[in-house]
Amino acid sequence: MKSRKKRDSWGSRFGIIMAVAGSAVGLGNFLRFPAKAASNGGGAFMIPYFISLVLLGIPLMWIEWTLGRYGGGFEHGTAPGIFHSIWRKNRFIKYFGVIGIFGPLVIFIYYTFIESWTLAYSLFSLVGKSTAITDRTAMQAFLKGFQGLERNQFFNGIGPAYLFFLVTFGLNIWVIYYGIKGGIERLCKVAMPLLFVFGLFLMVRVMTLGTPDPAHPAWNIANGFGFLWNTDFSALKSARVWLEAAGQIFFTLSVGIGVILTYASYLSKGDDVVLSGLTAAGTNEVAEVILGGSIVIPAAFVFFGPVEVQSIARSSVFNLGFVTMPLILNRLPLAELLGFLWFMLLFLAGITSSVSLAQPAIAFLEDEFDISRRRAVTLFSIAAFVLCQPGIFFLGRGVVDELDFWGGTFFLVVFATIETILFAWVFGMEEAWDEIHRGADMHVPRIYKWIIKYITPFFLFAILGLWFWQEWLPIIFMKAVPPGNRPFILGTRAGLCVLFLTLAVMVKLAWRRRRARGTQ
Ligand code: ALA
Repeated sequence: MKSRKKRDSWGSRFGIIMAVAGSAVGLGNFLRFPAKAASNGGGAFMIPYFISLVLLGIPLMWIEWTLGRYGGGFEHGTAPGIFHSIWRKNRFIKYFGVIGIFGPLVIFIYYTFIESWTLAYSLFSLVGKSTAITDRTAMQAFLKGFQGLERNQFFNGIGPAYLFFLVTFGLNIWVIYYGIKGGIERLCKVAMPLLFVFGLFLMVRVMTLGTPDPAHPAWNIANGFGFLWNTDFSALKSARVWLEAAGQIFFTLSVGIGVILTYASYLSKGDDVVLSGLTAAGTNEVAEVILGGSIVIPAAFVFFGPVEVQSIARSSVFNLGFVTMPLILNRLPLAELLGFLWFMLLFLAGITSSVSLAQPAIAFLEDEFDISRRRAVTLFSIAAFVLCQPGIFFLGRGVVDELDFWGGTFFLVVFATIETILFAWVFGMEEAWDEIHRGADMHVPRIYKWIIKYITPFFLFAILGLWFWQEWLPIIFMKAVPPGNRPFILGTRAGLCVLFLTLAVMVKLAWRRRRARGTQ
């Protein structure tokens, strides 16, 4: 057996916690969460949200940290190898693991583009390019012009957006090129505290807005928080609200994607996963519920009132972040600085997530083909760069939404279900329990043995079942897609199938290689 190169590792415990929290804290915390909460029953939404956190989010966090560390012990940093280490007798299980490379890659190819908008807007705010706009139609035109969806008084084509995409893509590659300790950990140790400082600053600014419009004394900040948190228990009767809450937990914690498996594979066998996993999840929840819940929606209420804020909350995440929020900040003193802080906050949240989405593909190339990081990063950059292009040029055709549905919603639940079954039923709960507690700094409450074995899988199957029942046919037959966009959606689906098959063939080749070298 030929000796293999040494795998990368984390430099400190703080570093990995910041990296996992960095992966979790993203655009979802500041835009997706407040919009979902406000449009799904306000305070009532928090009931299915916290139930999903306790029964799905936290168990999956522990499952992924434990499986990742276990697989790392066999020099596997991605799901095909990790699943194979757990169920060696099953020849097919490694192909289910392909989802753990495919999913993050699919999210990466649209997420980086959106992240590049936040970088662009932070500079536009700083230099005052967008801060004089106080009218919604003009702000919408600014966004559409920037995205290349129309030519107008603000932009004459997609050129500036493409330039910012190149810079953002380059920054991501630069970070991952320096590896786990030298790149990702270093970035997250600086970016995460900074992000919290910016978030706290904006939260305090929103809390001190008072009643900015004397003509509408009821449009005050206390009522703004009331709008978000007042409880409408009738929402709990809707299956959709439960699905939305569970979906938000997946998305925000970055579980079911495959990135935590990869990050945890760089731990040592005796490193704690229980407290570290909980701390990373807790950090994400503070960023989401406290910071994310205290900025956009309460501020929108104060400026636009109870009627308009309803449609704002239901509008797209893009609208909330790139139209509504700048409109609010532009009405305040120091709009340039506030705009810069808001978009920098989103950019830091974005880049700490996107580097984590890139890492599974890099780890797969490095671990399973035994190539250097430099070569792995080069191959990844070329492939990811090509894959990013349809989302950029066909944004108006629904390509990004389609990628988000498969990569960022559907496969998360499928992958989480496979992981949970493997962990609790194939690995076996007794062995799994010992493995979770190896090197642990705290004991997991015993009730979780039962939750992980029965409740989490049941919850996951229920979500999948409900989803198939309610949404499968309309989605497959593109019922909500305008006819002109259908060829683009079909093209995206075909592209995703080719990508999945390519990764599956690569897994086959990697295993053939391993067999030939006797490293299996
Ligand atoms: N967890 C990341 C987010 O919330 C993907 O945006």
